[in-house]
Amino acid sequence: MNKHKGHLLDVHLNPNISGLKPSATVAINDLSNELRQKGKEVYKLGLGQSPFPVPEQVVEALQKNAFQKDYLPVKGLRELQEAVAEHHCRTFGIEANPDDVLIGPGSKELMFLLQLTYFGNLVIPSPSWVSYAPQAKIIGRDILFFPTSFENDWHLTPEELEKLCHIKKGEPRLLILNYPLNPSGTTMDRDRLKDLAEIADRNHVVLLSDEIYGKIHHDGQHESIVNFYPEGTIFSGGLSKWCGAGGWRLGVFVFPRPLRWLLDAMAAVGTETFTSTSAPIQYAAIRAFQEGPEINDYLKRSRRIIKALGNHISKKLEEAGVRIRYPHGGFYIFPDFSPFKEKLKAKKINTSEKFCRRLLEDTGVAMLPGSNFGRHPEEMTARIAYVDFDGKSALEAVRSISTDQPLGEHFLKTYCGNVLKAINRLSEWIHD
Ligand SMILES: Cc1ncc(COP(=O)(O)O)c(C=O)c1O
Repeated sequence: MNKHKGHLLDVHLNPNISGLKPSATVAINDLSNELRQKGKEVYKLGLGQSPFPVPEQVVEALQKNAFQKDYLPVKGLRELQEAVAEHHCRTFGIEANPDDVLIGPGSKELMFLLQLTYFGNLVIPSPSWVSYAPQAKIIGRDILFFPTSFENDWHLTPEELEKLCHIKKGEPRLLILNYPLNPSGTTMDRDRLKDLAEIADRNHVVLLSDEIYGKIHHDGQHESIVNFYPEGTIFSGGLSKWCGAGGWRLGVFVFPRPLRWLLDAMAAVGTETFTSTSAPIQYAAIRAFQEGPEINDYLKRSRRIIKALGNHISKKLEEAGVRIRYPHGGFYIFPDFSPFKEKLKAKKINTSEKFCRRLLEDTGVAMLPGSNFGRHPEEMTARIAYVDFDGKSALEAVRSISTDQPLGEHFLKTYCGNVLKAINRLSEWIHD
């Protein structure tokens, strides 16, 4: 006889979770792996994972600290908080105190804790990273999307921010800005950041500045809005992208002094949820944030490769008739296939989701539809993560090419061949 009583097993799902699917990036990765296992050639331009290995010096630091076994303070290992604060001062010329730093198991988790702890609605651009909005939905916050456009490099304009500040004026809200931007790789210049900062300051907006791709600005010229609105900006970063350590799960927030209450409240929630971030990883992260000549050299070589590759594939797509903004940082581009809308309609493709699915089935090229980033489902945009190559060999090979020489097609074909092939297939397919 079945001992289980059916009614105990009925579905009682938190209404905020109902309809929530696994994160879009994870889903496309699973589908790509499944197709690969079935023997299909798949070009993995879906998941935004760094192609580069973790710098040797940081791996060695992790090896040396494998024995570290104690729970650490919820806000983070003191030496790591110090290293992050110093890094902040060195990079942005802004005073930060180790007590302003919060370490967590990935910046994604810290963002979730922030949204949970701060009692206000979420304001984000469209397009924006896939997880901000689902996190708000899980917690039960309202989301206000603000539109951006191809013409404005997919970033918020001061006029738009001014307008936003007048909607439900006075209500607490959290504004997230990400630059260089996932999904487009485009960034904001100093003047734009200054203008946005002035408006945010005047309207007392709490700003989360997601700068996880800042250190892989292709020219090493990343600027932070923290410089222009230090009182109201929380800086977000981590090891996942510039240090190739996504799976290590380490993120950092740096808070302005007036928001110490928020840091303390998040840490209190942290004690009841993740307890503390992995100890060996935190010890190793000290080495990463200290930087030094070897790590700077690693960064320079990484930037050189992703810059050359990003420009090359953008040019190829542009030549194929696709609308594209060239990337300034990170490893993404966000092409707009609207010039092919009628052609696609004839193939019964009328959403970016269908577009990506059919492309994957027909050519093996995996990318993410623009609708996953908050764009209108019928807008023919998609995100390409141009990371399907062996970053370790590319990093080694680039050592022997003098810095005054561009990384040409020969280099890219040899070391990033899959990405080039994928872009060729995509270009042919849209003209088919
Ligand atoms: C824009 C952006 N922010 C935050 C994250 C989260 O990174 P992590 O949790 O690995 O620190 C990602 C990861 O893909 C991202 O693309």
